[in-house]
Amino acid sequence: MTSASVQPPRQSTKSTLDHASGDKRFRILEAHMKKHQFRHDALIEVLHKAQELFGFLESDLLLFVAHKLRLPPSRVYGVATFYHFFTLKPKGEHTCVVCMGTACYVKGADKVLAAVQEHTRIKPGETTPDNQLSLLTARCIGACGIAPAVVYDGAVAPRQTPESALEQLGKWEAK
Ligand code: FES
Repeated sequence: MTSASVQPPRQSTKSTLDHASGDKRFRILEAHMKKHQFRHDALIEVLHKAQELFGFLESDLLLFVAHKLRLPPSRVYGVATFYHFFTLKPKGEHTCVVCMGTACYVKGADKVLAAVQEHTRIKPGETTPDNQLSLLTARCIGACGIAPAVVYDGAVAPRQTPESALEQLGKWEAK
């Protein structure tokens, strides 16, 4: 897909910033941008960091980056869609992002991920054939104190186990 064929996200910057204010991952991302002095030429590096933190690039995240780097959203969205190593919001009704950073890994994130994979029969980066669930991984979402952490539909859940992860999947499946 080329940048010319896509539309930038539509929500307002204000609602994005309101949303971002309660999520520690946005603060970590902002600190990363600050480290790069909010330079425009750091955009790809910043998007990599955003994907590490969130597992994929959602519209509000792209808007946040555009606002902070003072770039047009169309430019940020164009770059995110142009490069194959960036993942935009997956098509699953629900998203499950398992943090595989060091703190989470040593506390059993690999077992959580294995349980989800076995249950859903999909690998990270894939969506179930019925489009109900997209499974992703992230590299440290900034919640090491509550490791292992999993993000279910954007909400960070602490101290996950294979059982708690399967319980969450079961709740979605029951709906
Ligand atoms: S390693 Fe998972 S939150 Fe830091």
